Amino acid sequence: MNDDRRIIVFDTTLRDGEQSPGASMNQAEKLRIATQLEALGVDVIEAGFPAASVGDYEAVKAISAELKKTQVAALCRASKEDILRGWDAIKDAVNPRIHTFIATSELHMKYKLQMEPAEVLNQAVEAVKLAASFTDNVEFSAEDGSRSDKDFLCTVFESVIDAGATTINLPDTVGYAIPEEFGELVKYVMENTSNIDKAVLSVHCHNDLGLATSNTLAAVKNGARQVEVTINGIGERAGNTSMEEVVMSLNTRPNFFPHTTGIDTTRIYPTSRLVSMITGILVQPNRAIVGANAFAHEAGIHQDGVLKNPMTYEIMKPETVGISKNNLVLGKHSGRHALNAHIQQMGYNLSDEELNTVFKKFKNLADKKKSIQDEDIEALINEGVLRSSEVFCLEYIHVLSGNTVFPTASVQLNINGRPVQGATEGSGPIDAVYNIISKLTGTKSELLRFTISALTEGTDAQGEVTVRLKEDGIVALGKGADPDIITASALAYINGLNRLEYMKAHPPIEHSPL
Ligand code: KIV
Ligand code: ZN
Repeated sequence: MNDDRRIIVFDTTLRDGEQSPGASMNQAEKLRIATQLEALGVDVIEAGFPAASVGDYEAVKAISAELKKTQVAALCRASKEDILRGWDAIKDAVNPRIHTFIATSELHMKYKLQMEPAEVLNQAVEAVKLAASFTDNVEFSAEDGSRSDKDFLCTVFESVIDAGATTINLPDTVGYAIPEEFGELVKYVMENTSNIDKAVLSVHCHNDLGLATSNTLAAVKNGARQVEVTINGIGERAGNTSMEEVVMSLNTRPNFFPHTTGIDTTRIYPTSRLVSMITGILVQPNRAIVGANAFAHEAGIHQDGVLKNPMTYEIMKPETVGISKNNLVLGKHSGRHALNAHIQQMGYNLSDEELNTVFKKFKNLADKKKSIQDEDIEALINEGVLRSSEVFCLEYIHVLSGNTVFPTASVQLNINGRPVQGATEGSGPIDAVYNIISKLTGTKSELLRFTISALTEGTDAQGEVTVRLKEDGIVALGKGADPDIITASALAYINGLNRLEYMKAHPPIEHSPL
């Protein structure tokens, strides 16, 4: 790297982030996130793992064709088949990167790979040589690097740099490292890999002990110049290092971290919302930077201080991360133009067709609810555009409930263009609705979780329902919102079933290598 202060932001929301349980995304959703990540200013987008499934391969290919400036990385095991498949998916990108990996810890080599260290070293070198025959943008990762023998790690890094790797990545795969120790390991690698000046040292941390961001920052302090992150910190198990925490730490503490990134911080919040809505993974209210309470001051003494000078209790301005103070209220007289202007200000770019869909839903909602706020508009975009139904679609729902009747639901669905209807009872209105939907769709999913919350204040607020469904070992999240909470529940269930259908049609390879 020319500028030693510049940190490369490598986003793996679409690969490691997608490994969060239930977070599988379809191709259109991945494309939308990739486009948003490009506007956000990340340097590299890890678009997927092409050898894992046909769906992954196709999504990586589509993203490679779409992006204008961002590097697109494909994850590949250190094998010929994976690298050929990965390269085929990214070869049309403006700046494709092959990211190949193999585990280097004694534990992984002995039990998972059942290989001797010398064999692992040889396989890593051969994989990098093959990758470098296609592109000079090659990243090598030493999986479980933080638990590997330090000297073996440096030997592997030295050899793969000689073989053509331009980025070497040190993952804390199981989130085991402690910041001071991880910083020292990075320093050791910097000092004991003789050709390190020919590559960028990267880190990739998991959050099992809640230390992913701290470990990443300790690594930066000791010489790492690429950080691997996801939006909202989503990812395998407890997740990955979160982009917003690392970028805003660098941004807020420039005297401690004299570094820059290419991130447009005003796009952080809209990107966080988009990823949450597409994946269905909620952002906890107290989450740093992007949580609903991150800038909310409850204590009177704090409120008073913030009114006198926001810097008394706010170390960052909400506007810096794209949180608009202008939660303009729209109503039934607001036109398409005003709605579009507001949607754009919220950070979304919709096509004409998508805007028409959202506008229609907006008018329907405005008939039921006096004032429409950002949260309502997001729910409309979510339902009408981001998580639109494919196989099953709700046409109508009637429910009888109360304390003197058997709860009964009549539902009409459109299934692949064909209307089907039926009615049944349940122990409560939601049970009745779910029973009939399950019967009409012929699905047998298990409801793992059901949550409901009000999107805004007031008794006319929309209820937002999130469900977690499991069928044949596959888990999917569904979301739905409506002022009628039974309808919201039905929409969430149908959304979850649609996602299960998608995942059944695009299964990952049988034994995930990660
Ligand atoms: O956590 C990990 O080790 C990974 C590698 C494939 C980079 O995700
Ligand atoms: Zn990982």
